[in-house]
Amino acid sequence: MYKHILCLCLLAFACLLDAQAQVEIRPTYREPYRPVYHFTPPVNWTNDPNGLVFAQGLFHLFYQYNPDGMQWGHMSWGHAVSRDLVHWQNWPVALFEGPEGMIFSGSAVVDSFNTSGLGSPARPPMVAIYTVHHIVDSLHPDDYLQTQHLAYSLDGGRTWRKYAHNPVLDLHMRDFRDPKVFWYPPARKWMMAVSFPVQHQVQFFSSPDLIHWQHTGTFGPAGDTSQVWECPDLFPLPVLDATGKPTGQTKWVLMVSVQYDVQYFVGHFDGNTFQADPSGQAIRKVDEGTDFYAASTYNNLPAGDGRRVCIAWMDNWAYAAHLPTFPWRGFMTVPRVFTLRKNPQGQFMLYQYPVQEINRLSLDSMLLKHRWINPQHPLLITNYPFVVGKLSVQLSKIQGLIRLAVAQHQDSAVWISYDAATGILQVDRSRSGLTDFDAHFPARVTVPLKPSSHLRLDIFLDKSSMELFVNDGEKAVTMLFFPYPTQTQFSVQAEQGSCYLDMLRVIRYPQNAYLVQRKSVSHASRLGN
Ligand code: FRU
Repeated sequence: MYKHILCLCLLAFACLLDAQAQVEIRPTYREPYRPVYHFTPPVNWTNDPNGLVFAQGLFHLFYQYNPDGMQWGHMSWGHAVSRDLVHWQNWPVALFEGPEGMIFSGSAVVDSFNTSGLGSPARPPMVAIYTVHHIVDSLHPDDYLQTQHLAYSLDGGRTWRKYAHNPVLDLHMRDFRDPKVFWYPPARKWMMAVSFPVQHQVQFFSSPDLIHWQHTGTFGPAGDTSQVWECPDLFPLPVLDATGKPTGQTKWVLMVSVQYDVQYFVGHFDGNTFQADPSGQAIRKVDEGTDFYAASTYNNLPAGDGRRVCIAWMDNWAYAAHLPTFPWRGFMTVPRVFTLRKNPQGQFMLYQYPVQEINRLSLDSMLLKHRWINPQHPLLITNYPFVVGKLSVQLSKIQGLIRLAVAQHQDSAVWISYDAATGILQVDRSRSGLTDFDAHFPARVTVPLKPSSHLRLDIFLDKSSMELFVNDGEKAVTMLFFPYPTQTQFSVQAEQGSCYLDMLRVIRYPQNAYLVQRKSVSHASRLGN
């Protein structure tokens, strides 16, 4: 009798343990480093944004996702949608890894004319074009092949079916990935920019129907070839003059991620291939910070919108696996609008600024104006704690070295310094709070600007990130940081010399992500695959 009871107890205990092992981790959106207006997946690992496409009033954001854990692996496409690029709603995983392999990065289009035949004229399909990473022998994960595949949705992106005759592009190559497909109206055809990472090349293919692809050109090696080339994107931008007025000219921009950075080239696309302008061959980074990678832009924005909106993975492969967040790992940048300006030297420079929809989050603001800052009179803001919001600072008559501390407590802060004589701007997060989770994390970046006595900084803060836009988007510096709760102070100090504060505006956004990000809808559903 006792034996039976003991057995039953053991069985009950075993069931309990098993049930515990299967407990689903639920996000609360109140986790300490959970951002409010930056997209993060409810749980688990993410890297690149994928398939950025606007369809039927929704901005779709697919993303590299591990449905099974907080490390890279089992790559699939997670999915979220937004009506305003600020509030995101989680949808079920769109594409799971399958027997064919993992689902790597790629893009999505709306096949409005049903060129693929995967839908009907009345129900044009959404089509995803992505890389499948196939490990030939599971004992040797480095023995893989990469090919380009399609999947499609006939219900506005809710459910997805993999195309029956995949792959659509197979060059029998090991490294061949990250197709960016877009419609090219002048030739009424689809174009694909896709990477040969090891050769530092972007290859171009065209297709009448998304299924049959023909090689049309090659770009590279060029610019920064220090690491593999990934996630290319090619798009046209109207050229603005140095003051921001349209010139009537259009140039093409080719963006390529080079492990840890994103570089861009400005030039010409003739419908087959891209050529960089002679002046556009120098190495130019899209963002000077440490946490901006795999940047991609939206397809299919309505002509009336006219913006080129970009989202990047706000992270860095050097330490991404160790970020101190739970129960998710990986962030997206704020969506940014790209513009192209021709400077007085005749160079075309990429400018960027967060989408104006973010302003709708403003709760309250504080404005300070017209005062001198010198070593005896620093500007300290201690009684207005905030970690989610926007700080705008306009300084003039700068002489010597100016230091700003964001999220400061004693000497812990993200330190921003500017030397008016050299034009050197530095952002230092080596004492910014929690930094010792990875030896690569503490870092300082240097951004050369034109020496000037004026400086305009717009700093977007969201709990664990800082996106700094210098001089109305001339430069961007994106840095993650993990402050302690005491780091709520902001200061501007003139170490040597002085400056005049034209204005400082502090705008607060809601502090809690659960007020902004919607709860997930059964994110583990495997329907539609
Ligand atoms: C870039 C990248 C891509 C690849 C994906 C895999 O971060 O390495 O080249 O498709 O991540 O997750």
